[in-house]
This record gives sequence, structure tokens and C-alpha cells, in this order.
Amino acid sequence: MIIGVPKEIKNNENRVGVTPAGVNALVGNGHTVYVQATAGEGSGFADEDYVKAGATILPTIQEVYGIAEMIIKVKEPIESEYSLIKKDQLLFTYFHFASYEPLTHAMIERGAVCLAYETVERADRSLPLLVPMSEVAGRMAIQEGAKYLEKPLKGRGILLGGVPGVRPAKVMILGGGIVGTNAAKMAAGMGADVTIMDTNLARLRYLDDIMPANVNTFMSNEYNIRELLPTHDLIIGAVLIPGAKAPHLITREMLKEMRPGTVLVDVAVDQGGCIETCKPTTHENPTFIIDDIVHYCVANMPGAVPYTSTLALTNATLPYALQIANKGWKQACADNEELKKGLNVVNGKVVYKGVAEAFNLEYTPVESVL
Ligand SMILES: NC(=O)c1ccc[n+]([C@@H]2O[C@H](COP(=O)([O-])OP(=O)(O)OC[C@H]3O[C@@H](n4cnc5c(N)ncnc54)[C@H](O)[C@@H]3O)[C@@H](O)[C@H]2O)c1
Repeated sequence: MIIGVPKEIKNNENRVGVTPAGVNALVGNGHTVYVQATAGEGSGFADEDYVKAGATILPTIQEVYGIAEMIIKVKEPIESEYSLIKKDQLLFTYFHFASYEPLTHAMIERGAVCLAYETVERADRSLPLLVPMSEVAGRMAIQEGAKYLEKPLKGRGILLGGVPGVRPAKVMILGGGIVGTNAAKMAAGMGADVTIMDTNLARLRYLDDIMPANVNTFMSNEYNIRELLPTHDLIIGAVLIPGAKAPHLITREMLKEMRPGTVLVDVAVDQGGCIETCKPTTHENPTFIIDDIVHYCVANMPGAVPYTSTLALTNATLPYALQIANKGWKQACADNEELKKGLNVVNGKVVYKGVAEAFNLEYTPVESVL
């Protein structure tokens, strides 16, 4: 198959859809890979690295879209890319269709085959191509939180791990899923006094078993959250209720119960946030302050560490990309239920129920396009 890897052109996006190691694997399976010049630069991969792995570099995005049967990228195509997409061309990338109607209509009109990372789903309902970004964001939440606890950045001026003779900071993590567990690991490793809260008792039991002694678990409810607020220095929002907006577990009125300089990192901001006062921010301007409480609410945290994020993402996407390239998308999706769930729009038809419902479009069962 002929595979194209364009350079991401969305604002501040430095990740790339395939690494040189990925090119090596694809070429080794008999495929041809074209990479747009400087596509890997933001993630630390030079054009020569791709050439050594067996790719051909093309100077423009038009040439990459023009030649490829399958495009592998990271973010959804933006307006300037729509006209480059050809009928029957397969796009394997994040789409998040339900959040942007014009993209859905554009992909229908282009007649493309859209396999969305975010809806590839395992039998246990886990989302294997979203997990790596939650791992990155969870770990980063502590790194950022520790930084913003510093006095010059308007935090309380407390060191996460303390020092001999001085107590460490207290970290409260709302949600013990992928983000929360990764955050807890980092905070615990830095020596903080950590509490993870979740509503799922089985999950709390599991976390209690595997976490080190400086991590406690606590049932998540309003009463318990209020009890911890006055004594905690760093609060991480990491809840997710699939398919729904995040619940506001910390309301504006609760801010007055915290000490000045407390830092809130709401990782769940991309689902509306679990802290009422959180509004999406950017890496250029990551924080704002309300009632002396520092709010960090960057909606694309992994974007700040493109080297790690690209490798984490492509570790997860490459095995699927190889199946698609080796068998063709129809056979690969027929053979693999996980991949089949990733099909969203196929040759003008919406084959993912959630997307059809979001925009009142006709839904075509995916089986009928295979
Ligand atoms: N900002 C970013 O850059 C970024 C990056 C990756 C993920 N995220 C977001 O982070 C959030 C968490 O993702 P995840 O992968 O960890 O999800 P997950 O499904 O693995 O975990 C969510 C956890 O929240 C728990 N939960 C639900 N209701 C709760 C409540 N009332 N109190 C406490 N816990 C509750 C669930 O039981 C579950 O354990 C999502 O909104 C995701 O989109 C953001």
C-alpha cells in the first residue's frame, strides 16, 4: 500500500503520525511510505532519519495527499486540507467528529474512509489509542502542578517532596483511571502525600493494592472532597464519565475553603472540566487565578512533550496501521472488531452511531460497507 505522512499544520501541533521506526516496519512489510519534508522535526526526527528507515521525502503536503492510498496523521484534517483528500482515500488519525460538524460534512463530501483513533475500542470497552495520551497527561499533571506550586508562579511555595524535617505537600487526585493512576505514581515518586478519590470501590481496592504507602484511597463524594480541600496543596481533576460532560466536583463556592496558592490542574478540561471555575487554556498561557487559587487547564497537555507523545501514540497505532496496510481496510476491519469500531465515515456514509446522532445525519450500519 502507498502510505503518506503529512506534516501536522494545526496550531502548535508538533507530533507526527509515523516515526522512523514505524516507517521501517511498514517498508519491511512491503509498503511504500512518503513523508512530507520536516514532518518529524517537532518530535525530534530529521528527514534523514526517515530516509534511512526507507521513506521517500516529498516537499509539499499536496504531493503527500496526492500519491497516498492511506494517510496516517495525528490531528483531524483542518479546512485547508479538506480539498486535498481524495475519494476512497483512507485517513487514520484522531477526528473527534462529534465535536465539529463542518469536519463531518467535509469528510462525507470528499468520499474518504475515516478510521478514527478515538473510537477504536477493545471488547472491555477500553480505548487503546486514547490511553497513551492519558498516560502522558497524568504524568505531566504532577510536573506542572509542582512547578506552579512555586512562589514566583503564584503557588503556595511548597516543595512537593518536602525535605528531612519538613512535611511534603499533599496531593488530591479526583478520579483513579489512567490519568489519575499515572499522576499518583509521579506524585508518590516525588515523595508527596497522595490521596486518590474515585466512586468505583473495586478500582480503589485495586489502587490500594498496587500503590506505594504514601498513596491513600478515599471514596469520592462531596462530603469527603470538602474535608480534604483545606489541607491539600495540589488538586488534580481526572474524572471521566464516558459520553458525558465531566461533573463539577469542585464548585466555585468551594474555592474559599482552600488555602491561597493551592494549585488546581483540571486534566478533564477537554470534557468540560470537573472543577467549575476551569476554562480551557493553552501552553502559551496555561494558568489563571481566581480567589488566589492557581488554575492550570491546558486542553492538549501532551502537545508540550511531542517527543514522548509521538512515541507513545505510535507505539499504540502502528500495530493497527500494519493490519490495515497488509490487508486493506475492509478486510482488516472485518477481521478485527477493535478496528471496525474505528470506522466513522465511509465513502459518504456515516457508519458511527454517535456521530450520526450528534448531527441528525442518516446512520448506515458499518457491516453494510464492509
Ligand atoms: N487535558 C488533556 O490534555 C488530556 C489528555 C488526556 C486525557 N484527558 C482527559 O482526562 C480525563 C480522564 O481520562 P482517563 O483516561 O483517566 O479516564 P478513565 O476512564 O481511565 O478514568 C476516569 C475515572 O474517573 C472516575 N470517576 C467517575 N466519576 C467520578 C467521581 N464523581 N469522582 C471521582 N472519580 C470519578 C471513574 O471511576 C474512572 O476511574 C478525560 O476527560 C480525558 O479526556 C485530558
